[in-house]
Amino acid sequence: MKFNIAVIGCGGVSSMHFEGFARHSDRVEVVAVCDPFEGNRAQAQQKYGVAQGFATVEELIAGADFTVAVVCTPTNVREAVVAQLAAAGKHILVEKPFASSLEEGERMVEECEKNGVLLAVDQNFRYHFPFHLAKQQIAEGTVGNVTAIHLQHMHFRQDTGWRTREKRHTLEIMGVHWLDGFRWILGSEGKSVSAQMRHSSIIDCVGETDLSAQVAFENGTFATYIDSFSSLIPRCEALIIGDKGTLRLDYGGMELYDHSGAPQPAQKWVNSFGGDGKPDSAFECLEQLFLAIESGEQPSNGGRDNIKTLTLMEAAYLSSESGYTIPLEGGQL
Ligand SMILES: NC(=O)c1ccc[n+]([C@@H]2O[C@H](COP(=O)([O-])OP(=O)(O)OC[C@H]3O[C@@H](n4cnc5c(N)ncnc54)[C@H](O)[C@@H]3O)[C@@H](O)[C@H]2O)c1
Repeated sequence: MKFNIAVIGCGGVSSMHFEGFARHSDRVEVVAVCDPFEGNRAQAQQKYGVAQGFATVEELIAGADFTVAVVCTPTNVREAVVAQLAAAGKHILVEKPFASSLEEGERMVEECEKNGVLLAVDQNFRYHFPFHLAKQQIAEGTVGNVTAIHLQHMHFRQDTGWRTREKRHTLEIMGVHWLDGFRWILGSEGKSVSAQMRHSSIIDCVGETDLSAQVAFENGTFATYIDSFSSLIPRCEALIIGDKGTLRLDYGGMELYDHSGAPQPAQKWVNSFGGDGKPDSAFECLEQLFLAIESGEQPSNGGRDNIKTLTLMEAAYLSSESGYTIPLEGGQL
């Protein structure tokens, strides 16, 4: 089946989605875009050959014929947009982070459920970072029981515009990808979260630039994660340590080290969603929504699932503010 879609918000991230649509034209046709900023709207229409453009969501709903909306507005202008689309009976893929707060995320899930539409989140790092490869090997027992996950993500990143004025920064921009990835590969929910966050004076923004978080999962695995937007040394690597083997992940792929004593990896996998595959990683999240619409089931990256990811994010902020470890019950605060 081919879906007619509309893109709401034609800024930076929308180009990743448009490239993904172009690679999967058998599944998707973009019939309209919506953005109050005429420059971005006109550029998207021209560059990607989109027939209709609208300045407001009201005009879009009244004037375009589409089944699915891809929402790429800034995080802080998401809830009202989702509510309008849900009330109009549109299925929705929203960008990450799903919401700026847990309450906002819960309201959006309820709004969509009330209107009988499906809601999915673009957690594209499930694929762009090779979490999908790790998930498969963990499920197949390749590394045995997973004792620990250690993830380092460090680089120097100076944002501009609305992001610099948000109270929440590094964890909301990047951390939400990693926390979601941990839950997804383990198939387990958080039991407690402890975190420390700081703002570096070298980065012009309001929120945290550097953080360290530890999540204990219900299945006994713990994940330690550090992130820095102020490090002059870039690094992005995850180690997944099991009692039968260790996996090393970076964007390009994954390696397995076993207990044979050999210094080289026992097996290697290339991540086809890494590098130039990023638009495909976003499309895969949309495809999960399409499959759910076709089957009548919930998408694997659904809004209700994502509430558990938002809970880890919320708990990390609470921990950093209070100085306490935050306990969770069934993955909930
Ligand atoms: N998944 C990823 O890899 C990834 C990467 C970058 C950004 N993002 C997320 O995508 C979202 C957007 O980020 P961005 O970098 O594209 O921001 P941006 O500021 O570049 O673009 C946002 C666009 O939304 C438009 N907009 C604002 N209010 C609107 C409204 N009411 N209706 C329609 N359009 C509206 C703006 O005019 C702008 O063109 C954020 O939530 C961000 O976290 C995700």
